[in-house]
Amino acid sequence: MKILMVCLGNICRSPLAHGILAHLVEEEGLDWTVESAGTGDWHVGQGPDRRSVSVAKKYGVDIAAQRARLFDYDFFDQYDHIFVMDESNYRDVTALARNEEERGKVKMFLLEGVVPDPYFDESLFEPVYHLVENRCRELLNELVDTTRTN
Ligand code: 4NP
Repeated sequence: MKILMVCLGNICRSPLAHGILAHLVEEEGLDWTVESAGTGDWHVGQGPDRRSVSVAKKYGVDIAAQRARLFDYDFFDQYDHIFVMDESNYRDVTALARNEEERGKVKMFLLEGVVPDPYFDESLFEPVYHLVENRCRELLNELVDTTRTN
């Protein structure tokens, strides 16, 4: 299973989703790939925002080695599931889909609502971390179920 987490800058939200889910996948001993990308190119090649690095470290997840990448339409071939953090990510990613199969790989990360962008609001990093962690735990179970029924 190959999973891609996508936000705007690939430095705040998707690195957390990437790092947390990868951590849980490793704990479960699953041979899955979890990666991330952004729809904007401003931070390509940079490590995650220090505030995301710091909140993740506080809860035992090391995301410091990640490097921001720009979402590329080739990723539709490379991943089974593409999870986006908000509606603008959804629009930007689906706009690059070449067919319904590719469009169908793109899903909102949360079942309800969006992961708020903490970039301009420092107080959001802690709540965003918990929101993302809770959903990653749930998502892991949902994805494990899909492998059982297929
Ligand atoms: P992210 O947050 O999409 O969660 O990585 C942002 C990071 C950078 C910018 C916007 C959002 N920016 O405008 O540079």
